[in-house]
Amino acid sequence: MKLPDGPKASPRSLSRQFKTDPLGFMDAMSDRYGDIFTIMAGSTPLVIVSNPRGIKQIFTSAKEITASGKLNQGSAPLVGNNGLLMLDGLRHKHRRQLLMPPLHGTRVQAYGQRICQVAEKIMNDLAIAKSFYAYPTVQKITLEVILQALFGLHSGERYEQFRRLLSNLLSFARSPWLGLSLSYPFLRQDLGSLSPWGYWQNLQRQFDKLLYTEIEERRAQADPDRTDVLSELVFAHDETGQPMSNEDVRDLFPSLLLGGQDASATAITWLLYWIHRLRDVRERLLEELDTLGESPDPMRIVALPYLSAVCNEALRIYPTQVVTFPRLVESPIEVMGYELSPGTVVRGSIYLTHQREDLYPQPKEFKPERFLERQYSPYEFLPFGGGARRCPGEVLALFEMKLVLATILSRYQLALFDEKRVEKPKARGVNYPPASGLKMVLLGQLPRQGRSQQLITSST
Ligand code: HEM
Repeated sequence: MKLPDGPKASPRSLSRQFKTDPLGFMDAMSDRYGDIFTIMAGSTPLVIVSNPRGIKQIFTSAKEITASGKLNQGSAPLVGNNGLLMLDGLRHKHRRQLLMPPLHGTRVQAYGQRICQVAEKIMNDLAIAKSFYAYPTVQKITLEVILQALFGLHSGERYEQFRRLLSNLLSFARSPWLGLSLSYPFLRQDLGSLSPWGYWQNLQRQFDKLLYTEIEERRAQADPDRTDVLSELVFAHDETGQPMSNEDVRDLFPSLLLGGQDASATAITWLLYWIHRLRDVRERLLEELDTLGESPDPMRIVALPYLSAVCNEALRIYPTQVVTFPRLVESPIEVMGYELSPGTVVRGSIYLTHQREDLYPQPKEFKPERFLERQYSPYEFLPFGGGARRCPGEVLALFEMKLVLATILSRYQLALFDEKRVEKPKARGVNYPPASGLKMVLLGQLPRQGRSQQLITSST
């Protein structure tokens, strides 16, 4: 069997290069080896694909290529042994199906007003004429949105308890300590809550206790009006027809929380960067928003074509994840002229596919118009991955991105702190937000009327 060509440096050196400059590394690989290349991880070949034909095979050849959970074992200390990422086959499919109703359609639409209010609440806390970092600010917004969507909580003592605890859990999950502990198992020792691993374990125990209390209360008092994910899961049955246990329900939350908060915050921070860097884009967006008049219905906002194109372009140019989660070749399959044998690991490169000149002319330029001029297939534009592990939060995420951006743009006048600074993505967990956290300044708040005119005048 001949594998696609690839770099010969040691896995350690390649991993270091990737960590230092992930996108530069990917660009260099694609310049040298083209659409498909192999990186040897010890004796296991990892094949990276960025050609839509190959991507389609990875997502659709369900018999030959599976979304094996064991490939994600490295994340088990973070998301648990039975989280969505660790599952595969029937159990994985079934759990995903349970998540679909509360994360789609009218259920998500019901959160529209709330998302706009949350964005205003967090932005109103910022001081005028002072600088702030956009990434942690947006994280506060996305944490509140995910608390609403997953647990249906937006005020009260239980909400405050969850908010505080999750905020600590998620900050630790992004810290270098956790990354080190995942790489070096000997660091995973609980030496009391002053030690990093002990602190993390302690937070997890507190989270479990809180979640189990909430689960018990919801089981005892069913409320048919609740539309959140937890309320759906506590009365769901597993793939064998048995009621889901408290542990089964609990296990689904860490991946949802991490995916839900961090990826959305990364995407919205990039949006803020691009629209404050590119005046024409900002003006066109403001004009489009103005066509809706005062206090528009959130459903009309999310249907705006240019706003949708801007969100897509932000997800294209710097996707929140550079590659899909890994897939495993289970039986021989030909991909792009190469016969891949069982045991080979394959990943779609979201970033490199989005950088293809044949699909996206001048790929390093931010040009939302391309999404108005052309329809892309799910194998050409794949910010949410695809196939068996396609992001279950996609609908909520796009809804949230559009509403948060529309709210911020129409109610606040912001500027980049350093307009000349070119932001680069940096890995934080699996996501790639701007390395600096994106320093911005709040110049002022705007009345609800005539906002675009004022913004355009004051920024000239
Ligand atoms: C802009 C925001 C988001 C982006 C760009 C994004 C992107 C992705 C990508 C690329 C994957 C991997 C897909 C694959 O390997 O084929 C993924 C998986 C996942 N995402 Fe998202 N995501 C976002 C928001 C969310 C939200 C809001 C949630 C939760 C409500 C979520 C939960 C998950 C979960 C649980 C998985 C793993 C799915 C599985 O293993 O079956 N994500 N996401």
